[in-house]
Amino acid sequence: MLSAGCSSGEEAYSLAILIQQCALDARWAIVIKGVDINPRALEKARLARYSLWALRETPEDIQKRYFATDGREHVLAKSIRDSVTFEEENLASDALWTADSYDVVFCRNVLMYFTPESAQRAVRRISRSLAPGGYLFLGHAENLRGLSQDFELCHTHGTFYYRRKAELEPNLVLRPVPSPASSAQPNLPLDWASSWLETVQRSSDRIRALTEKPISELARPPLSATASVAPDLSLALQLLAHERFGEALDVLQQLPPSSARDPDAVLLRAALLTHSGKLEDAERACTELLVLDGLSAGAHYLRALCRERSGNTRAAVEHAQTATYLDPGFAMPHLHLGLMARRTGDRVTAQRELEQAALLLQREDPSRLLLFGGGFNRDSLIALCRSELERFKEPT
Ligand SMILES: C[S@@+](CC[C@H](N)C(=O)[O-])C[C@H]1O[C@@H](n2cnc3c(N)ncnc32)[C@H](O)[C@@H]1O
Repeated sequence: MLSAGCSSGEEAYSLAILIQQCALDARWAIVIKGVDINPRALEKARLARYSLWALRETPEDIQKRYFATDGREHVLAKSIRDSVTFEEENLASDALWTADSYDVVFCRNVLMYFTPESAQRAVRRISRSLAPGGYLFLGHAENLRGLSQDFELCHTHGTFYYRRKAELEPNLVLRPVPSPASSAQPNLPLDWASSWLETVQRSSDRIRALTEKPISELARPPLSATASVAPDLSLALQLLAHERFGEALDVLQQLPPSSARDPDAVLLRAALLTHSGKLEDAERACTELLVLDGLSAGAHYLRALCRERSGNTRAAVEHAQTATYLDPGFAMPHLHLGLMARRTGDRVTAQRELEQAALLLQREDPSRLLLFGGGFNRDSLIALCRSELERFKEPT
């Protein structure tokens, strides 16, 4: 197990304590290593002396069992100290990363210091050094969108983490990570499929310019010319804007097979099917998209809508939470979570999610409102959040 960017050792020692507590089969050889670029942090890690503040979330029984007090400091038991090694390493260096070396890597709150390109390279090294099926844990506000397709997203106990796929694509070329300008929170750069955004944005602009024109007068792009991998989706998007879902689906159906399988086209198809109430087909399109891009926040959000409409609120909540995790700037899943929580009487969650949705909606990209807003514009969606929030002020 590797604690990458281990700082003063808290994470690596927590793993060692946990493993001792699990009383695993003695034949298991567990090796825990912490690496960091900062020698002073590593010195502190090796000393394993912590303040009471550092132990503020450590349960009392663990404190009693594994720490001895020395003045104001708490000294970790030797048996735990001896089970962890620390090394000075730069995560950007190749030396650390031999193939299949680790089963578990923790890399929490480290990638945020890297440029997007260095972060992509670091995650690529991590995926190569993990055994197939091995696990990667990031910080709670970090995700792998735009950084890697080597992992499956896992979710349990309110926590997201990643599992390395059995097969890695040998020389996958990732899309360049765009600047995180649209992200509402400091976070890893988010790849809101840049080509898609441009397509939708262009379309939104055209829609604005052509609001008075009937659809029949809109120029239909020559479909034969859209056989490239990145399809021209503008006509289908214009039809979506006019809530002509069936016609938009027909347009998508005429795309050549290579274009129809493009992730942007599949996302649009999934959205159109969801809006048309064809939930089973929409679910299938979401599955197709998640095979292409397991970290698609849009696919998880649409799946949340489908699950809720088919009465599976629990799965709906899980998918909407996944969408907000994968893209913290994405307003619609917050709104959806807020509405579901209000319906189940969870006032605290409802209020928190609706407030967050109202905030994010102010800056939500027009293209995303077009795709996921269910026909409502920004102002109507914000008004919906506000009116729902007002209801909390009414006496019950
Ligand atoms: C904010 S701390 C996170 C510590 C710990 N992972 C946690 O979540 O509590 C970031 C750590 O990453 C280390 N770090 C930053 N860049 C690094 C690099 N290129 N190689 C190794 N460590 C690095 C820093 O020295 C620092 O100790």
